[in-house]
Amino acid sequence: MKTIREFADAKAEGRKIVMVTAYDAWSARLLADSPVDCLLVGDSVMMTLYGERDTLGATTEIMATHTRLVARQAPEKLIVADMPFLSVRKGTAYALDCAAALLRAGAHAVKAEGVRGHADVLHHLVESGIPVMGHLGLTPQSVNTLGGYKVQAREAAEAAQLRTDAEALEAAGCFSVVLECVPAALAKSVTESLKMATIGIGAGVDCDGQVLVFQDMLGMNPDFKPKFVRRFANTDTVMKGGIAAYAEAVQKGTFPDVKESFR
Ligand code: KIV
Repeated sequence: MKTIREFADAKAEGRKIVMVTAYDAWSARLLADSPVDCLLVGDSVMMTLYGERDTLGATTEIMATHTRLVARQAPEKLIVADMPFLSVRKGTAYALDCAAALLRAGAHAVKAEGVRGHADVLHHLVESGIPVMGHLGLTPQSVNTLGGYKVQAREAAEAAQLRTDAEALEAAGCFSVVLECVPAALAKSVTESLKMATIGIGAGVDCDGQVLVFQDMLGMNPDFKPKFVRRFANTDTVMKGGIAAYAEAVQKGTFPDVKESFR
């Protein structure tokens, strides 16, 4: 995928959209040659790469830096970058500056969490030529209000609110919305009622596409195994085996050998 317009085409044709996070040149290079449609420079970078307990530490500079690393290596991929914590709550001018920095770094679109209280800001970004993807359900930037990383909208009132929020995002001009950790039946019915494409993470199979964090999908962190993550590879085991083999070879004096040495 190269443009956000292909999201609407994919939805219309019933073709699932494949999205994965990428934060660095190395993962972007791997994804550049893959069938993945779209790369998300997510603020989950703060937890996955920086080892922080939440995503709140992301700044425009950090997000722009990672966006640049990814965009250079995957020029043929559609790249969405996360608007950092509070960036859409400080007014339109601030949000515009932040989104502009992300697009100048190589993103084609931005993703912003929530909608209540900042629909006008999102609409202004869209009207300014900046494609916006929404994000509802478990919105990690609100972890302190939500009381943890938990499934959302299980109760009827919350489900109704999520529907209203999704409609507000569509009215603001968003081209897509991430639905994170919501019941599959709710995600299905919201997906059916929206024109824009839904991208699920922990939201069942009926969304228009799926997104996973690169490191989770490849099993790099054995300690992190939420219900909605499937490990499509066990790279953790492979990497640990490689590290142990290297250490053993150095300790035994079998690395480097003659072929690996200069005369
Ligand atoms: O930051 C991120 O990686 C995300 C995805 C989990 C949707 O927002």
